[in-house]
Amino acid sequence: MHAFVTGASAGIGEALAKRLASAGYDLTLVARRQAELARVAEQLPAGAKVRTLVADVTDLPSLPGLVRRAENELGPVDVLVNNAGVQIVALTHEVEPEQGERLLAVNVLAPFRLTHAVLPGMLERGRGTIVDIASLAALAPTLGMYHYSASKAALAAASEALRAEVAPRGVHVVTVYPGPVHTEMAAAAVSRYAEDPTGILPVGNTRTLAKLVVRAIERRKARVIYPRAYVLARLFPGITRWVMDRMSPRPKSLKA
Ligand SMILES: NC(=O)c1ccc[n+]([C@@H]2O[C@H](COP(=O)([O-])OP(=O)(O)OC[C@H]3O[C@@H](n4cnc5c(N)ncnc54)[C@H](OP(=O)(O)O)[C@@H]3O)[C@@H](O)[C@H]2O)c1
Repeated sequence: MHAFVTGASAGIGEALAKRLASAGYDLTLVARRQAELARVAEQLPAGAKVRTLVADVTDLPSLPGLVRRAENELGPVDVLVNNAGVQIVALTHEVEPEQGERLLAVNVLAPFRLTHAVLPGMLERGRGTIVDIASLAALAPTLGMYHYSASKAALAAASEALRAEVAPRGVHVVTVYPGPVHTEMAAAAVSRYAEDPTGILPVGNTRTLAKLVVRAIERRKARVIYPRAYVLARLFPGITRWVMDRMSPRPKSLKA
């Protein structure tokens, strides 16, 4: 079995790579930082076949070729994990449009291209899983995260829409909604505020999230929401919006 994981050089992608390797998958690991990819590859359990591909997923036309290279080396992709992501936490009018558009390329357009590249093969074989790492921001769009919230809502909606379409052909889709999880990205986001905005909110860890995602792949669960308390955001969208509008950190608490 072959899993293709983007953003595998750190954080959630790194934890997913380790968990998938422990579950017996051969791995293609994709990211821009070669040294970090090599570090992750070295730490995987012995026995797993691993290929690292240094690539910037914003180079959209190159992505089908990347999948072909991976498939030539390790066989058809059984699991695609669309994990690579970037975040901007800033006042919206201070973000350069190009910076926002680049975020949309990483968080939305690259997953679309990769899904498009693997899906025909999965449908033909009658099996395969696509995992989309969205965010709680898709369920609770967040002040200071204009582009990020939009990108994660787009990815989550696409992911949820695809599931029913491909299920009759044996292909499964897992949509993942992590709340705050300790990683470089989360630390960078927190550092943008005068005070830690997560406060008393539940914050998760990458190992537990990776375990839940691999379980969802194995048991064909539709979605993972973690930490668990954030299921409430999906069940009560109106109340969530009310809370977000009143309890979010004030714009002036965002550092310039
Ligand atoms: N941590 C959280 O609290 C949280 C919450 C909700 C959702 N998420 C989502 O979970 C995913 C992983 O986040 P994380 O917290 O693990 O972030 P992270 O620690 O910053 O890792 C991001 C990963 O994406 C890769 N990446 C970024 N831009 C890329 C590009 N242009 N081309 C190829 N790879 C790229 C990075 O690798 P290189 O720098 O080596 O390219 C890195 O491996 C993201 O989609 C994020 O939005 C995270």
